[in-house]
Amino acid sequence: MSDPGERLQKVLAQAGFGSRRVCEDLIADGRVTVNGEVATLGRRVHPEHDRIEVDGVPVGVRPGLVYYLLNKPRGVVTTAHDPQGRRTVVELVPSDPRVFPVGRLDADTEGLLLVTNDGELTHRLTHPSFGVEKEYVAQVEGRPSRGAVRRLREGVELDDGMTAPAKVALIEPNVLRIVIHEGRNRQVRRMCEAVGHPVVRLVRTRIGPLRDPKLRPGAWRPLETAEVRALERATTRGAEQVEG
Ligand code: URA
Repeated sequence: MSDPGERLQKVLAQAGFGSRRVCEDLIADGRVTVNGEVATLGRRVHPEHDRIEVDGVPVGVRPGLVYYLLNKPRGVVTTAHDPQGRRTVVELVPSDPRVFPVGRLDADTEGLLLVTNDGELTHRLTHPSFGVEKEYVAQVEGRPSRGAVRRLREGVELDDGMTAPAKVALIEPNVLRIVIHEGRNRQVRRMCEAVGHPVVRLVRTRIGPLRDPKLRPGAWRPLETAEVRALERATTRGAEQVEG
């Protein structure tokens, strides 16, 4: 059976247009279009694909909020200011409006980093209770055995406690793909070290629904509206689970 999609008023409410009741009124008043056609109550949509507008303005990205996906190069620090004078990630993206990195990557780690001025989304993406997945590709010393991979999957003891179960695959004899949903300091490096395979190179290749294998190190691009919506949905689902 094909996915019927989500109720339009729910999608509008999640995008910040008010309660579902208020959003139903927007629809009833003929102010909402889906793919160019005026929507009626009961309409279901696929937010990733359908173009939704309220009063002719696309839904999903609120005015004034910017979202950049950056491929952080090695050696650049994930802070707004570095006392040691190293290059920072905010120097690689436009300076106005002022933006902040979402979470952090070590200076030595490369790969995808979201930079935004959306504080609420930042909170949801970094709070462990939302459990947004992050995928890393780690080149390690030595050749991890099946036992080492299993330990990484099941959880390893670190000095701040056991790690949660992770998705781990050996994609080359010395390269692991690791998906975690916690965000502890230097977590992937410490996990690999704990099983006897220190990391040589670490690249983040996915943040929840966001991937971009074509983005070059040091380059950034704005998120597409559908990507912002996908991130909101990834964190909203977490919220529903947390609230239970
Ligand atoms: N795990 C690490 O060890 N380093 C990072 O930068 C991100 C995750």
